[in-house]
Amino acid sequence: MKHTEKMLRDDALKGKTIVVTGGGSGLGKAMSRYFLELGAKVTITSRNFDKLKNTAKELEAETGGICLPIQCDVRHYDQVEQVLAEVLKSFGEVDVLLNNAAGNFISPTERLSANAFDTIIDIVLKGTKNCTLAFGKHWIKSKQENTKVLNIVTTYAWTGSGYVVPSAAAKAGVLAMTRSLAVEWAKYGMQFNAIAPGPFPTKGAWDRLLPGDLKEKFDMSKKVPLNRVGEHQELANLAAYLVSDFSSYINGEVITIDGGEWLKGAGEFNLLEDIPQEMWDQLEAMIRATKKNK
Ligand code: HXC
Ligand code: NAP
Repeated sequence: MKHTEKMLRDDALKGKTIVVTGGGSGLGKAMSRYFLELGAKVTITSRNFDKLKNTAKELEAETGGICLPIQCDVRHYDQVEQVLAEVLKSFGEVDVLLNNAAGNFISPTERLSANAFDTIIDIVLKGTKNCTLAFGKHWIKSKQENTKVLNIVTTYAWTGSGYVVPSAAAKAGVLAMTRSLAVEWAKYGMQFNAIAPGPFPTKGAWDRLLPGDLKEKFDMSKKVPLNRVGEHQELANLAAYLVSDFSSYINGEVITIDGGEWLKGAGEFNLLEDIPQEMWDQLEAMIRATKKNK
């Protein structure tokens, strides 16, 4: 069996209605495809309606499922409420919200205008807040239980990272919201979890985080102990599990899927990886000699 194979049984999401923000491209599209294959009805949203329409058509043809495209800029609460209303009109109810939409680009922080900083915070943190609040209020009012919110963060939500500071601050806020509401809204039958992906190549992310020849200069797979980047199906497998009923006792968790990347950066002595194997005899002898020299 390979890590790129599909993990769950074919009917794992049958009967579920799922809204994926930013579902027209990249990881959102990959997760939406797998949800459809598993029997869910999926609504994909983002700002670019033509892109959404094409993706929905492509995914329906590939999977035989129902994929509804709805234009929505998550920065605007009224547009999010409109999505909810349209989904309820089309499907009767909604079971899962996947907050995946994001904005990001690399920049030294001192080069950012106040509006540039706000733009990222507004898409990532305020957008996630808008969707979560609208859907959460609906679920509370309608007394619908067994609902789930899955948030896509990243590992620098807790380590922080230079050159993507607005994104790091916003993702940290999303992580705090995930853990906070996992407790506060559990009484309404809602579960909140997050996924923290490491590097998963997508056009949206790579064009903004590794423009031009930075892709070659900074090979992301070299930062990963497992020596490779992620495959979209691996993330889709994890997301499908977390929105399915199989994960009903997981709440308030953030699951990292990064091949060990962030821990490699964090561990004090992990840089000793660069020492050639043949040097270790010599190093051991030097260390042992310190006892004799006492
Ligand atoms: C400095 C910049 C800039 C740049 C834009 N701005 N790009 N400043 N360096 N490279 C400034 C603009 O000048 C403007 O400020 C403000 O930011 C808003 O820019 P707009 O273009 O008007 O915004 P908008 O059209 O809303 O586009 C948002 C965007 C864009 C974030 C700038 O890149 C976008 O649409 N992104 C969506 C998709 C995306 O980012 N995907 C990647 C997610 S990857 P002023 O002051 O001039 O008005 C990800 C990975 C995480 O999150 C972890 C990886 C391991
Ligand atoms: P992507 O294809 O650029 O996805 C971002 C999506 O968000 C796009 O479909 C975009 O669509 C949508 N979006 C942006 N601004 C929006 C807004 N204001 N309102 C509604 N939708 C908006 O990049 P990706 O790599 O797949 O990223 C998906 C998620 O994974 C993000 O949360 C990202 O932070 C996270 N992530 C990615 C990686 C990685 O290595 N790729 C690693 C860690 C975390 P429109 O432009 O049409 O609006």
